[in-house]
Amino acid sequence: MEPTMSLGVFLLPGGHHPSAWRVPDGPVPDPCDIDYVASLASLAEHGGFHFLFLADSDALWRSDGAALRRDPNAFGLEPLTLLSALSRSTETLGLVATVSTSYHDPYSVARRLSSLDHLSRGRAGWNIVTSFMPQVAANFGGSALPAHDRRYERAEEFMNVVDGLWRLWGHGIVTRDRASGNYLAHGEIPTLDHSGPHFAVRGPLNQPPSPQSRPLLVQAGSSPAGMSFAARWSEVVFTVESDLDSSARTRARFHELLAGAGRVPGEVRLMPGLLVLVEDTDEQAWRVLDRLQSMVDPHLGLVQLKDYGFPIDMTEHSWSDPVPAVRGDADGQQGRQEVLRRIAAAREMSIEQLARYVAFTRGHNLLVGSAERVADEMERWWRAGACDGFNVMPARLPLDLERFSASVVPLLRDRGVLTAPRPGWTLREQLGLTLSPVDR
Ligand SMILES: Cc1cc2nc3c(=O)[nH]c(=O)nc-3n(C[C@H](O)[C@H](O)[C@H](O)COP(=O)(O)O)c2cc1C
Repeated sequence: MEPTMSLGVFLLPGGHHPSAWRVPDGPVPDPCDIDYVASLASLAEHGGFHFLFLADSDALWRSDGAALRRDPNAFGLEPLTLLSALSRSTETLGLVATVSTSYHDPYSVARRLSSLDHLSRGRAGWNIVTSFMPQVAANFGGSALPAHDRRYERAEEFMNVVDGLWRLWGHGIVTRDRASGNYLAHGEIPTLDHSGPHFAVRGPLNQPPSPQSRPLLVQAGSSPAGMSFAARWSEVVFTVESDLDSSARTRARFHELLAGAGRVPGEVRLMPGLLVLVEDTDEQAWRVLDRLQSMVDPHLGLVQLKDYGFPIDMTEHSWSDPVPAVRGDADGQQGRQEVLRRIAAAREMSIEQLARYVAFTRGHNLLVGSAERVADEMERWWRAGACDGFNVMPARLPLDLERFSASVVPLLRDRGVLTAPRPGWTLREQLGLTLSPVDR
């Protein structure tokens, strides 16, 4: 069967537009209120999404007090804890948690992710990140992040350990034989005995294999190191793309890397972020966006740029200046810097325009308009081979999640582009992916 479009929702409880929570209709978001977050998860599940994705950093997302004060998405619950709770209120929705390989240890992470896969009966996914904000380092006894490519080196060893741990048990060991009194078929679970520059882990995991054997592996770095890591490990790749041609080029380049790693395109879903704001007509939608954008403090965007490693020094510039040539910090988010640099040049943006734009989009593609318009554009990207699906980022919550589910999803289904999630399927199966026999 030909794969259809993969559909995830990137959940920021306050909505992706930084002003969305101030609009007086709808609930005031509380990222720490399980009932509120569970209601959004339920909307996503009934709306036909394949998975819900939670981003995370091991520090406040804002490095600046003025930006922190205005941002309902700067903090929240720890993703594996939150998704464990959501595993009991959802049935088909995949649950993708972000966990950093730079500040956690592989034994605990392997165990916690495997637990989520057990709890959700095979719906767990892991967004593997290497962390990019210096304030994370300060929470783990360091003053600076390790250098960019060093972080990926550690991530590589981390993956070898967790993957090794997930394979050790093998299947069919838990036999629960009351007659003999043997709960397990044998008592000899192999050890891993890993010893490397970053980790020494004996194993085995104190848990039998979960329904998917290992969670769905997701990754979102698009630097050269990030892409080659993804080519070796990822099954879903999140990207930041603002136009179809560039996304098609990224996908083609990524397929070459996959071939180099001995893998085929069908083993991976490339899913750019997609900001959506849906109204009855395109004009109405743009009017709403203009109002939301007028409430954005451009300072927020400047802080965002600095956190990506793209600092603009306002002691040397004024807001109306064109975006200066900034030498990005190689230890920041290289992929994102590149995308933003390209957008600012192509649209000849001033610093203020870029700051307001980044505060909302963070470089992602923006689809504003009627349901037909949103569905048409998604179908166009997908049919052109620019992506395998989308990581949908609703501008307003719950509004754009409700509207997308009620009006865009049915259009995509009618066109045969999108299929409904099936009860009882694992997350990997919902996306039309399988684990290769060696990984099983
Ligand atoms: C859609 C998307 C979501 C991301 N979510 C997180 C996140 O939750 N936590 C995090 O530390 N990094 C996150 N990142 C950052 C990346 O995982 C990666 O660390 C960063 O892009 C740097 O990699 P690069 O230099 O290879 O591009 C995200 C990136 C994208 C595009």
